[in-house]
Amino acid sequence: MSWNADLYKNNYAFVFQYGNNLLEWLQPQAGEHILDLGCGTGELTAQLAAGGAQVTGLDASASMIASAQRTFPQVNFVVANAASFSLPEQFDAVFSNAALHWMLDKEAVAARMYQHLKPGGRLVLEMGAKGNVASLLQALEQAMQRHGYTYTPFWYFPSVGEYTSLLEKYGFRVQQVLCFDRTTELADPENGIIDWFDMFGDHFFENIPAEKRTAILQQAQEALRPTHYRNGKWYADYVRLRIAAVKH
Ligand code: BEZ
Repeated sequence: MSWNADLYKNNYAFVFQYGNNLLEWLQPQAGEHILDLGCGTGELTAQLAAGGAQVTGLDASASMIASAQRTFPQVNFVVANAASFSLPEQFDAVFSNAALHWMLDKEAVAARMYQHLKPGGRLVLEMGAKGNVASLLQALEQAMQRHGYTYTPFWYFPSVGEYTSLLEKYGFRVQQVLCFDRTTELADPENGIIDWFDMFGDHFFENIPAEKRTAILQQAQEALRPTHYRNGKWYADYVRLRIAAVKH
């Protein structure tokens, strides 16, 4: 996945704005060492640093990290894969907002998070849960099929049971879980659904010519208009999974 960091910051700032609320679960303390896993353009990492924590922001995307480093030169950022990274320290807390659903090797990621926490260290995360953006994906699948293409699911949106079991398997004790719907207003009032897939869904169109892609996305958006377009705005049916856990 190649990321357009500027488009992300302009149209998808809600991703890290919603993350502010997740910081309340983390309760970061000044002086704590905190790892922000899948930090993107670094807004929440910088917020943690501003509160006095020693923060490392990690992301697999070099363009996201380059943008983060340009905007917040005082913060420590690294480009690394969450399934295989190895840092020289253990952290008081691992924090992750809206990133774990991109990390398909979930077992390896859980092991890495555990490995990088001090005993008693906290994990606080929010990610897409089972059912996240389900209507968008269903509309895309139907439009792709109409054009003779096969839709292959991509993201990892686990249920509460699935993800808490995974964390327990790797040694975490789960302390708090919340799964909730968050109907989310999309940035582009004209073409919110098309814009969303253009930002996040390139992988669905790897072998599809550009003109077909445009037709598929237009059909998917029109199919969603009766249910996902209200008072001049497009909405996506986000479902969030929020967890606080500790390393045993
Ligand atoms: C999410 O935050 O739920 C999400 C964002 C982009 C693609 C898929 C899911």
